[in-house]
Amino acid sequence: MTVLEATNLRKTFRSKKKTTEAVRGVSLSISEGEILAFLGPNGAGKTTTIKIVAGLIRPDAGEVRILGKNPLHAPALKQLGAVLEGNRNVYWQLTPLENLEYFGCIRGLPAPEARRRTAELIERFGLSEKMRAPTQSLSRGMQQKVAIAVALIHKPKLLLLDEPTLGLDVEAAMDVRRLLKEIAREGQAILLTTHQMEVAEEVSDRVAVIREGEIVAEEKTSALIEKFSGNRFNIKVESGLDEATQARLKACGAEIVDGAIIYVGGTEGLWRVLESIKPLPLVSAAKDRVDLTEVFLRIVREAKRA
Ligand SMILES: Nc1ncnc2c1ncn2[C@@H]1O[C@H](COP(=O)(O)OP(=O)(O)OP(=O)(O)O)[C@@H](O)[C@H]1O
Ligand SMILES: [Mg+2]
Repeated sequence: MTVLEATNLRKTFRSKKKTTEAVRGVSLSISEGEILAFLGPNGAGKTTTIKIVAGLIRPDAGEVRILGKNPLHAPALKQLGAVLEGNRNVYWQLTPLENLEYFGCIRGLPAPEARRRTAELIERFGLSEKMRAPTQSLSRGMQQKVAIAVALIHKPKLLLLDEPTLGLDVEAAMDVRRLLKEIAREGQAILLTTHQMEVAEEVSDRVAVIREGEIVAEEKTSALIEKFSGNRFNIKVESGLDEATQARLKACGAEIVDGAIIYVGGTEGLWRVLESIKPLPLVSAAKDRVDLTEVFLRIVREAKRA
């Protein structure tokens, strides 16, 4: 089931001095249980797009549908939870407990249900120890967890997160990543922006890359990495390569880089390469796998050249 369907969104900011076309024809869709990582350089239009999806900015053109409904109308908002830049969805003077119960009621849960759900989220997000302390006294990671818990209090079908792991320490970021995967497994759709490619690589099912207001790539995360990894093999042998072997390798189209044999091509050619290093003891032969950081940089640079 499609939870979010955004089509052809456009937004231009105008001031006396300049106009900025922040979002230029962006379309996105996310299904139940899916995590979409929305990636792009600074100023690419991610936050603006998320704000349009959340109904906080009215687009100049295009449409947003959350479970078929327009987010500018109340019924769609029931299906939406969002943590945007600066955690403005919590009250700093209130405790996590108070925030959760308060927002539960505001989002339409009956009081006993709001209390039940609060207890559940406090437990799940590991907030028990600090649940009665003012949220402003909590660490940054804890505050972030409170903000995400608050966004989830009414079990929305769509969760929007703008840089959920920014500034968190390794452990807190790991917790948040684990929670996101759990939440998605339960069927919620998540739209997330991050500059931390390892976070996107770990949690997302699909990636959309935006540059200067336009989507320049959109694909399953694993397929995208596979595509950019190509057919590059890295072969290591135990001892040094004598001149005759080097010559045979070159004849097969392989290169020697820092003592390792690099071969780009199909499996058949690879066998020829392996044949030509016989009988040297083989240490490893592996397909090079690029990570999402490299994929991202290549996509953004290619788009720049185009
Ligand atoms: N309220 C506004 N008024 C004028 N210009 C704006 C406004 N909000 C955003 N912009 C401009 O729109 C463009 C896109 O900004 P946006 O915040 O959506 O980028 P972003 O992809 O979220 O970047 P970052 O990675 O830095 O968070 C930028 O050029 C920004 O300066
Ligand atoms: Mg932003």
